[in-house]
Amino acid sequence: MPAEGEGAPVVRLRDAAVVRDGRTVWDDSSFELPAGSVVAVIGPNGSGKTTLLHVLLGLLPARGTVEVLGSRPTRGNRRIGYVPQNYTATTGYAVRARDLVALGLSGDRWGVRPLRAAEHDRVSRALRDVAAAPLADRRVSDLSGGQQQRVAIAQALVDDPPLLLLDEPLANLDMRGQRETVDVLAALNRERGVTMLVVAHDLNPLLSVLTGAIYLLDGHAHYAGVDAVVDAELLSHLYGTQVKVVRTAQGDLFTRTA
Ligand SMILES: Nc1ncnc2c1ncn2[C@@H]1O[C@H](COP(=O)(O)OP(=O)(O)O)[C@@H](O)[C@H]1O
Ligand SMILES: [Mg+2]
Repeated sequence: MPAEGEGAPVVRLRDAAVVRDGRTVWDDSSFELPAGSVVAVIGPNGSGKTTLLHVLLGLLPARGTVEVLGSRPTRGNRRIGYVPQNYTATTGYAVRARDLVALGLSGDRWGVRPLRAAEHDRVSRALRDVAAAPLADRRVSDLSGGQQQRVAIAQALVDDPPLLLLDEPLANLDMRGQRETVDVLAALNRERGVTMLVVAHDLNPLLSVLTGAIYLLDGHAHYAGVDAVVDAELLSHLYGTQVKVVRTAQGDLFTRTA
């Protein structure tokens, strides 16, 4: 097993495959993600994006070689922060933001013991790191979608994991909520060096922070650097509709359907 450290890939797949209910979701998949990456996970509905995250979390078995942070995936790995798809929609109504974040430390045994002072500090720090410190005592149900998503990210982050997996964190957010969420992810990557995989439907809001993308195409998971993946032909094939890649005079890149 390779030692973890500078240069060791955070995620490594070698001839990996996943079979669910006797059906192959994706197979023949090999790639490595360098530490510090910000990688979009893209592909049509049902192509296996959530499945990939579940494999990395040790929730689903895979064939072939899968390594995360230098080891085989194991359930309950505290070195991986996870924000599930539609997570904030499933949280309790009366929960305060700081209590939701504290769940990342105390686990699911809700209310079993009061937090120690050092844990309080970590909760406060995580909220600060997602620009949500002023929301600490607000009920999660009273927050905007973007604010809720940031609190969910704080929960995933509170144990200081080097790797964050986010399943469609931009879904159902308005443009401002998307912008604020992406800004938070960019800062976490820059300041804490967190590596992240972000499942997304639209690359545009993420283009400024991405280093690459895993794209699920034709039953395989592929990885490419951002310049290779932001390619009209590839994206058109992926989405099954004509996509154009446009670079503005300011150098900003975006994609649109032709
Ligand atoms: N709980 C499950 N049991 C069996 N098959 C599942 C389950 N959840 C999803 N699948 C199948 O796995 C495939 C990939 O699903 P998923 O990873 O959720 O796709 P995506 O996140 O890209 O929309 C789909 O064909 C889906 O039908
Ligand atoms: Mg999914």
